[in-house]
Amino acid sequence: YETLQPDLIAAREEMLQDLELLGTDQIPASKQPLDAGFQNLPQQLLDEYEAKKEESLLGRIEAKAQELREQSDRFVVLGIGGSYMGMRALFEAVCHPLHNELTREQRQGVPRLYFEGNNVDNDSISALRELLQTSCEDPSDILQRWSLTVISKSGGTLETAVGFRLFREALEAYYGADSEESRSLVVPITGLEGKLRNFSNEKGYSGVFPIPDNVGGRFSVFTAVGLFPAAVMGLDLKQLLQGAADMTHRFISQPMGDNPVLDYTATCHLFEREKNVSIRILSTWGKRLEALGLWYDQLLAESLGKEEKGATPLTVVNTRDLHSRGQQHQEGALDKLITNVIVERAAIDPIAVPVVPENENQDQLNKLQGKTIPDILSAAIEGTNQAYSDANRPTADLILPCLDEYTVGQTLQMLMLATVLEGRLININPYGQPGVEAYKKNMQEVLNR
Ligand code: PA5
Repeated sequence: YETLQPDLIAAREEMLQDLELLGTDQIPASKQPLDAGFQNLPQQLLDEYEAKKEESLLGRIEAKAQELREQSDRFVVLGIGGSYMGMRALFEAVCHPLHNELTREQRQGVPRLYFEGNNVDNDSISALRELLQTSCEDPSDILQRWSLTVISKSGGTLETAVGFRLFREALEAYYGADSEESRSLVVPITGLEGKLRNFSNEKGYSGVFPIPDNVGGRFSVFTAVGLFPAAVMGLDLKQLLQGAADMTHRFISQPMGDNPVLDYTATCHLFEREKNVSIRILSTWGKRLEALGLWYDQLLAESLGKEEKGATPLTVVNTRDLHSRGQQHQEGALDKLITNVIVERAAIDPIAVPVVPENENQDQLNKLQGKTIPDILSAAIEGTNQAYSDANRPTADLILPCLDEYTVGQTLQMLMLATVLEGRLININPYGQPGVEAYKKNMQEVLNR
């Protein structure tokens, strides 16, 4: 572990130099694209907010988000890959698990949330359009009103563009093509140039938010891509950004042993290099973390899966997946590192297992008297780690005190920094995804036939 320290510190140095290269024309070919802007963005946004308040990007995002909250009861987010998965991770980790089922009052005026534009799925698109349209008879009734954000950095991604046409058409049909709502309840988030930017300018949408050039898709959760939908959902953006900024600070300033980014990267890298452990299981203990795991699957796979290198990520949700993948993890090939993501404190009060009269104790659960659901989960975690250890299978633990904006902000930033750090360590440019172009090109050719 210690022998890796000089390499890790050198890779960290390189990441800091990347920041200096940004904005110059000195970027070497081996580093293009260079999307390192995510590293210090959270602190920059917080500083800008302190200096300019409502005039800052955060201030403008909050104001527009409040408008959408007050003006609509359903909110559709269109986007794919890096323009989608971060927000879904935030939503599932922090919002109420049954958010969409709650009344508007229970939701405290926060709209219901739907994701589309992230697939080519006839039935799913159709079902959402139908849901939105069937409840649309009286636009003055808040419960029938809906709004839309479309997120695409390039502005040319087919899945999202098709979704935008379909949902924009439905929204304009409901409120009227020239209505105030058709300009104010559609919020595009896009790069500084491109088809969607041009279209938005022509349409005269009242809120359009930028995605900075130097922040890549899967690193963009702390740009308007994640921040705007998160603000509509009532999340505390400042806490989210503070968590991310603090993680960057810790990454830059702390030694190994007190630096989650260095420690996590070292653990993963050493197992891969020394023991051929190339499958990384993110073992999340709780359903709220599944989307965060899927976000990480994309981050690692798309960033480092290049030049026939890069570990394979796989997210599981336990204890659920102990009953499906658990067998393989316990006795299959010895090629897996299992990283547990453990949340110490549930967001909702712990439920105790009820005790019933002795003659009704057929399920024999009275012996759990006094135990809560979190107690049972802790036993499952301990028992599983022990079973892996007995079978000589490595595990690591990522412990989160709770799932709030601050902690989730730290976690996302930690995993982004670790991914780039590992890229620099194994000589892979973590930015860009040239391999994804192949399917797009072929699909376009087929469609052009
Ligand atoms: O990480 C990436 O860059 C990709 O996953 C993109 O986010 C994804 O392809 C969507 O691209 P865009 O935002 O240009 O529509």
